[in-house]
Amino acid sequence: MDKIVVEGGVKLKGEIEISGAKNAALPILVSSLLADGESVYSNVPRLMDIESIKLLLSSLGARIETDDRTVRIDGSGLHNHEAPYDLVRKMRASILVLGPLMARLKKARVSLPGGCAIGARPINFHLKGLQRFGAAISLKHGYVEASTDGLKGAEIFFDIVTVTGTENMMMAAVLADGITTLRNAAQEPEVVALAEVLQKMGAKIEGAGTPVITVSGVESLNPTSVSIIPDRIETGTYMIAAALTNGEITLKNCRPNHLEAVINKLEETGTRIETKEDQIRVTGPSVIKSADLKTLPYPGFPTDLQAQFMVLMSVADGKSVISETIFENRFIHVSELERMGADITISGHSALIKGVPNLSGAPVMATDLRASASLILAGLVAQGTTEVNRVYHIDRGYEAIEQKFKSLGARINRITV
Ligand code: EPZ
Repeated sequence: MDKIVVEGGVKLKGEIEISGAKNAALPILVSSLLADGESVYSNVPRLMDIESIKLLLSSLGARIETDDRTVRIDGSGLHNHEAPYDLVRKMRASILVLGPLMARLKKARVSLPGGCAIGARPINFHLKGLQRFGAAISLKHGYVEASTDGLKGAEIFFDIVTVTGTENMMMAAVLADGITTLRNAAQEPEVVALAEVLQKMGAKIEGAGTPVITVSGVESLNPTSVSIIPDRIETGTYMIAAALTNGEITLKNCRPNHLEAVINKLEETGTRIETKEDQIRVTGPSVIKSADLKTLPYPGFPTDLQAQFMVLMSVADGKSVISETIFENRFIHVSELERMGADITISGHSALIKGVPNLSGAPVMATDLRASASLILAGLVAQGTTEVNRVYHIDRGYEAIEQKFKSLGARINRITV
């Protein structure tokens, strides 16, 4: 098991390139199942989650070739309708194969993903959506068993905004017979990116990026070639690192327009932010002002940056309240930050943070992807040495994180134990 060791006290300086977005690449790679022929995806991040989805897609019959950050996938050979537990349990986004399997094979047997550290994370809206398409759904021995004579266009309303739920139903709808309307749909840039790929493949989709998406089913789709959009959560993580360390960094190959809520909130803390079309320059303040935060579906502040922002508030001048409205248990990082000297009180879905002058380095445990990143951030600003254990969580979603921080001057190393 690897661990990452960080020495605090360095002001980050320099520039780094942002990688392709994990949460765009996952549904886009899965969309290859919807067409015969080879699709080509470039700027695919090198991450454990990408390896997991490639393993699952090839187990279903897709042919996959990878050359660095370019992935070629031919969905012609799709024949297996079963996504087994040992693959799905590693990554809940595997549930995204449900829509394409139903669209192409008219049946699917997909393991229920199970919960994870940040919450129960059910898939009831995915299943309710498929039933609206006319699919027969049953749950047996931990698996979803679904079948249909052919998906029919449907009116679907999501009780809660769900990112992969919206993506799954969009992929089920593109080959369905008739028109589908998705209401209270997710508006995340990753949903828009998937819709644009499906349109390039020949799908008829209107309204992606708004709460109402309309899909007119077509007979078939063609393979395509696309570049994966930059990762806004990786970008936000490094922006917060610069704010935290009174640093001055430039992020290249990013999309400032995907980060309006994050830019707005960081400016409230006194951080200076200058943007160009694909670059963001961040200058951290000498004194970090406290600011309250509420996570919301896009275009609100992303839940995937809540833990990172909490680290910033833990050394801010004053008190702040952070409310997590998306997941029911996304404060696991709090106990680890308290071990580093943070002063945080949880009350239900909110946390009250009283800024302290310094954090102190300590051995800490990563529990989920974004909490792990927040512990590295805490180590960058803590006095002394911080050891972040179980960094396999990190490798799921951050490409070359220690190399990128090292190139900004951080004293950080990975140790294989
Ligand atoms: C996506 O997860 C992201 N993952 C998550 O990023 C992100 O935190 C989340 O959206 C919210 O933005 C990918 O895109 C692969 P949801 P997803 O369905 O789609 C509840 C990361 O770190 N819900 O939008 O699984 C759910 O429990 C990951 O990169 C139901 O109740 O999240 C949650 O409370 C973590 N029933 C809320 O909705 C359902 O059927 C939002 O979940 C579906 C969701």
